[in-house]
Amino acid sequence: MDQINRKLFGEDFYWGVSSAALQTEGATTADGKGQSIWDVFAQKKGKIKNGDHPLTACDFYNRYREDIDLIKQLGIPCFRFSISWTRILPKGTGEINIHGIQYYNEVINYCLEKGVQPWITLYHWDLPQDLEVLGGWTNRHIVEWFSEFVRICAESFGDRVKHWMVMNEPSVFTGGGYFLGIHAPGRSGLRNFLPATHHVILSIVAGAKILRELLPPDAQIGTTFSCSHIEPLTNSSRDVSAAARADALINRLFIEPILGLGYPTKEVTALKKIEKYFKPGDEDNLHFDFDFIGLQNYTREIVQYSFFTPYIGASLVKAENRNVPLTEMGWEVYPPAIYQVIKKFSQYPQIKKIIITENGVAFPDEVVNGEVNDDKRIAYLQDYLAQVLKAKNEGCNVQGYFVWTLLDNFEWAEGYHPRFGLIRVDFDTLKRTVKKSGYWYRDFLKS
Ligand code: NOJ
Repeated sequence: MDQINRKLFGEDFYWGVSSAALQTEGATTADGKGQSIWDVFAQKKGKIKNGDHPLTACDFYNRYREDIDLIKQLGIPCFRFSISWTRILPKGTGEINIHGIQYYNEVINYCLEKGVQPWITLYHWDLPQDLEVLGGWTNRHIVEWFSEFVRICAESFGDRVKHWMVMNEPSVFTGGGYFLGIHAPGRSGLRNFLPATHHVILSIVAGAKILRELLPPDAQIGTTFSCSHIEPLTNSSRDVSAAARADALINRLFIEPILGLGYPTKEVTALKKIEKYFKPGDEDNLHFDFDFIGLQNYTREIVQYSFFTPYIGASLVKAENRNVPLTEMGWEVYPPAIYQVIKKFSQYPQIKKIIITENGVAFPDEVVNGEVNDDKRIAYLQDYLAQVLKAKNEGCNVQGYFVWTLLDNFEWAEGYHPRFGLIRVDFDTLKRTVKKSGYWYRDFLKS
């Protein structure tokens, strides 16, 4: 794969690195910030591995200049980060915290000063706790609460930021936080998951409409989805239809309504219950014509029929039982997955443009003589990129790629252990060390 170089992707291909507020900023009570569901969830016993918490994280809040300098030094053109709702609106709605606005103004201005393009995600999972107390995403009023937050961000930062993503991976934060209970706020079951899903989609669309109304015409409005390549374990009709149901839930549940195709209730009939949460007129407020769709892919899933899994009758065959190369998250390293998902989503005529807004890997990095020779991460990135290029060369409209992530950070319920960064963070001293993969990305971008 040595021959792969930036030029092959064309001049107008976006290159970047992604991050998120809660995972990196720390300073969770500084300058009037309110508490988010993750601040609260992390205080509960046994929710986060090793009892880790986001209190300090990478201290990006205080060190953003140093980190943006590193982005500049590595020659990475675009930086995707998220806005913490509780820095702007500590209680979720109502009084604005001017320090929060000032902080993101400084981050944005510093990026621009350094020639780095800021790409903003409005919601990367850190819901204000005061809204969770009122039901969080299960409360339909959240569409108005979220709209208020989006409006403030658009009015405050819209004069300088050209690329916006409304939400990050809705299926993961609703699935983890409202169905399985393994992510904040720790709710479970269909009676939480279905209203949360419906209100999240209404909010994505309401947020996007506000951005369209308030931002200058050259702004690019997108939203991101997690997607996996899915294959049945065998060719038996039971496994094949189980895989189709898993695909509906993992890949299609959020994106299809947004593209105007409605919920995939045919495959997963339990989803029909979502209609209970519909109000008159909702059909018209579930879809939006996005300028770009952010796809985030890491792996593939193998699916088999399962009698015991309620609602879906399908289960994932763990990668560790399949004799395949694994990442530290236990995910299979499978570069063609990213090609497959780009191909899959390119077939939707409603999608104008695809940007890979996340791809990357956690391996157990080692520091030896002050260096991190993470050759496995380099190989992973090269191999996945080669597959992105293959899809592009076959005519798919993929126009950007962002590595997850800049800094080792707080990996949600997994804590600080899985390290995804191009830059190592020593969580005792907060010292940054650019890994070999960071230098590799720099040289690749120069090529
Ligand atoms: C998806 C999420 O957007 C991000 O927050 C997470 O850290 C990475 N993938 C890796 O799991």
